[in-house]
Amino acid sequence: MARKKFIAGNWKMNTTLEEAVALAKGVADAVGKQSDVDVAVCPPYISLSAVAEAVKGSNVKLGAQDVHWEAKGAFTGKVSCAMLKSVGVTYVIIGHSEQRQYFGETDETVNKKIKAALAAGLLPIVCVGETLDERKGGKMDAVIERQTRGAFVDISAGDAAKCTIAYEPVWAIGTGETATPQQANEAHIFIRNILTQLYGKETADGLRIQYGGSMKPDNAKELLAQSDVDGGLIGGAALKAGDFAGIVQPK
Ligand code: PGA
Repeated sequence: MARKKFIAGNWKMNTTLEEAVALAKGVADAVGKQSDVDVAVCPPYISLSAVAEAVKGSNVKLGAQDVHWEAKGAFTGKVSCAMLKSVGVTYVIIGHSEQRQYFGETDETVNKKIKAALAAGLLPIVCVGETLDERKGGKMDAVIERQTRGAFVDISAGDAAKCTIAYEPVWAIGTGETATPQQANEAHIFIRNILTQLYGKETADGLRIQYGGSMKPDNAKELLAQSDVDGGLIGGAALKAGDFAGIVQPK
């Protein structure tokens, strides 16, 4: 099955309001007419509204970097699905390794967030990936399998089909070290096999799996040429419109 490529920019904790609007306009100018690839930008919460305005009329979609699973209430610092919807968000990154590493994200909270997002009509980008120690210790497959199965507990095939998976080996994030195209593809095939066990071949074949971890204009083409690499979740290189455009349209 042909899967449309999907490139998303994860701006992390970068850009002031002004910088975010400028970057969003740069992205919309560079790739906003692109229709053969899905494109999204995920700025910090405070810039979501303004970025929604900046990309209006283009094909660039808006994503958030996280969400809380509860609908409302005494959860200081958190943002709900309805709040994200109300400012025009389409996608939401869930389970990023930085959330898992620094902010206590677990497979269980990932699962709760995915369910809340789907119930609200948001499209989750679900992150999985092993650390260097886990890879060296031969635990890579077990970790990826645990994270993938954990994310999709009690989620129907129809709902799972609305998700994107991002395979992000933690050792490749922001380090300049990229998984080789073969390493990435092997992991993607491994994840797709788990999804096949969970949901059957048709659903698994339709699901997009992005690669994330030091993807840049000069390595994007080879990574994206792999059979099971269906896009990218881009950190550092998403902070310059030209670099990001170079991944959306790799030469
Ligand atoms: P990177 O980040 O492209 O800077 O490695 C990717 C990510 O963490 O989503």
